[in-house]
Amino acid sequence: NQEHTFTLTVNSEVRPVQAWRDTSLLLVLRNQWGLNGPKFGCGLGECGACTVMIEGVAARSCVIPAYGVRGRAITTLEGLGQRTALHPVQQAFIDEQAAQCGYCLNGMIMTTAALLRRNPTPTDDEIRQALAGNLCRCGTHLEILQAVKRAIQ
Ligand code: FES
Repeated sequence: NQEHTFTLTVNSEVRPVQAWRDTSLLLVLRNQWGLNGPKFGCGLGECGACTVMIEGVAARSCVIPAYGVRGRAITTLEGLGQRTALHPVQQAFIDEQAAQCGYCLNGMIMTTAALLRRNPTPTDDEIRQALAGNLCRCGTHLEILQAVKRAIQ
């Protein structure tokens, strides 16, 4: 086992990184790319704090080896909006004051943005189902649901 040098495409930027074959995408994004949008929560694929999009689909970066997503389009929270404007989902979460401690929020926003890409008008049940794997220990689920509904409008 040895470190490999390969390129990743993150937020439309291509850069070389160096990692073992099994180093998680989350560690590479945070430690080599300097992106702290994806959070380290459980490290086991269970909490959703580390959620990014890979080719527009929500994915848990703590359990995906960076080496395995070479050449794929990776989007983190930092790449979601425009330079001059927040993404509508980010704005809706702010407008609804959906954060308490805020640790889960980046993952919630990425999961929501991925949901709205594939289903722009989800029902309440579909929203709950999509976010069921994103854990919030503060219990702000109602505000989060409101924020997603605001983003749909
Ligand atoms: Fe990746 Fe919890 S840190 S799912």
